[in-house]
Amino acid sequence: MNVENHKRAAAARAVEFVRPGMRLGLGTGSTARHFVELIGERVRAGLDIVAVPTSRATEADAKRWGIPLTTLDETPELDLTVDGADEVGRDLTLIKGGGGALLREKIVAAASARMIVIADDSKWVDPIGRFPLPVEVAPFGVVATLREMDEAIADIQQSGPLTLRRDKDGHAFVTDGGHWIVDAALGRIDEPAAVAHALGNIPGVMEHGLFLDLAQMAIIAGEYGVRIVERP
Ligand code: A5P
Repeated sequence: MNVENHKRAAAARAVEFVRPGMRLGLGTGSTARHFVELIGERVRAGLDIVAVPTSRATEADAKRWGIPLTTLDETPELDLTVDGADEVGRDLTLIKGGGGALLREKIVAAASARMIVIADDSKWVDPIGRFPLPVEVAPFGVVATLREMDEAIADIQQSGPLTLRRDKDGHAFVTDGGHWIVDAALGRIDEPAAVAHALGNIPGVMEHGLFLDLAQMAIIAGEYGVRIVERP
């Protein structure tokens, strides 16, 4: 099986946790896209759910599949969010934001009673941190924000280049919320809570891609099949 098959297998297992009448959060990225497609098939077969997308890209996919959509303003409490991740640690701490949707993804996950993360087994790592941590920042004063980020990271004995993400034309990558993304290549992160705390105190930082205590379950697919890991 190739990686795409693994992503689909994880998504298919997550569909089994969806019940009629649920209010769902729909994640963003290539793995979450499989889940959206599979839910779309169920909706066409009569499944009654309503969903909040975590990005414009997912919104477009969900519409294409005929999934009934709502907003968090109309439906502020969700039953279940299913999303991918860039890295999944042993305690289900996640690094997210490789696709730039981390702010909406985190808001939607936090509004959900339950979050399931789906991934192929290349994402299952210990410790987390090989994937540069995406940090969503306000464009205003970005140089000052980068300096503050450098200092805050050094204060907790971490370091690593901070790189403003660019699109294929060399312009700053702009998120759905109109912000920019800084990729923080910190290397191994042994204390994610300390990193989250340090970054969370900087005014220009809108949100960071560390998801702590949000996912209750990971569905990981590899050559061995699909396995379920629940947060201790
Ligand atoms: C989107 O901003 C991300 O958080 C994605 O969930 C993450 O990058 C995983 O994407 P893939 O499933 O495409 O690897």
